[in-house]
Amino acid sequence: PARPLVDRYGRHISYLRISVTDRCDFRCVYCMAEDMTFLPKREVLGFEEIETIAGAFIDRGATRIRLTGGEPLVRRDIMDLVAILGARIGHGLDELTITTNGSQLAKHAEGLAAAGVKRINVSLDTLDSERFTAITRRGRLADVLGGIAAAQAAGLAIKINMVAMRGVNDDEIEPMMAWAHGRNMGLTLIEGMPLGDVGIDRVDSYLPLRELHDQLARRYTLEKLDKRTGGPARYVHVAETGGVLGFITPMSHNFCESCNRVRLTATGQLFMCLGQDDQVNLRDALRTGGAAALDAALDQAMLLKPKGHDFVLDRTHSTPAVNRHMSVTGG
Ligand code: GTP
Ligand code: 5AD
Ligand code: SF4
Repeated sequence: PARPLVDRYGRHISYLRISVTDRCDFRCVYCMAEDMTFLPKREVLGFEEIETIAGAFIDRGATRIRLTGGEPLVRRDIMDLVAILGARIGHGLDELTITTNGSQLAKHAEGLAAAGVKRINVSLDTLDSERFTAITRRGRLADVLGGIAAAQAAGLAIKINMVAMRGVNDDEIEPMMAWAHGRNMGLTLIEGMPLGDVGIDRVDSYLPLRELHDQLARRYTLEKLDKRTGGPARYVHVAETGGVLGFITPMSHNFCESCNRVRLTATGQLFMCLGQDDQVNLRDALRTGGAAALDAALDQAMLLKPKGHDFVLDRTHSTPAVNRHMSVTGG
């Protein structure tokens, strides 16, 4: 591209995550409070605006786009946007992916594949249906399992994201791995992050994945993989299962020096880091100044990208590190 997006620390921004809605049909305990106030619908970007912003990123060298939420598949007519963005694959865009809770996946799996999506991430923290309903507050495990089966039938590669929580699902890590790897899916474990007020301090459930990795290494042959998808996960190949296990360790290990990503919220704020407040209002730039203002806003954004995040998790911090839920910034 003519003017690649490079920040003050020399990092190339090649990956745009687009949160298409902050709404969700679940209320996962580590993500949301029971009662949530969502962004006003009238402030949400239209698909044309998202297309324009995505196009500006692609013109400047972004090669990968991931749709997130909240739950992206609960946005009305979402498959229209998937088709619009899918048409850019091979024309500047290498890959279009989606991170979903799977509840609506059964009806959209074929459409995703038809639009050119090759792999998806599905969030799943447990295989026990009662526990699943306790964690998600309103989800049904059977819906998600049905969605996963439909996605596999449609030929989509799947990676399962599991937030590892002490005393909640830490007894299920090995069964999850056996289940996922046995079905040709990857499993990535995530440390819970203090994002937004969810009514608990997340301290008791914090499970440092470094420790877990070392425990697993005593029971399994973990072969380090250099393959990085441009994400923060470190991957190992598990010889015994033949599958790939990932670790996302924002709390215990910083991966920010190789960060390649920025995040667009449903209302058009561009956040430069999941764990910081630096942002640029792309919606206003676009609505008031058109393409030129949007382009200038991207330059401004590059100057604002912080060196990294710095989460603190302890009981003396009564408010979370970032006063914004994951469902706003899109994971
Ligand atoms: P690919 O690399 O695109 O396959 O995805 P990924 O491994 O990044 O997975 P996904 O995009 O589904 O992200 C999984 C989770 O990792 C997110 O929901 C966040 O919890 C966490 N995560 C992803 N990117 C970042 C980041 O830049 N900073 C922090 N702190 N956490 C991140
Ligand atoms: N910390 C870590 N992961 C979170 N997710 C949602 N909230 C948090 C949090 N506070 C995860 C979901 C999903 C992905 C989009 O982010 O489980 O896998
Ligand atoms: Fe919804 Fe995902 Fe948050 Fe759960 S983690 S409430 S599925 S956005």
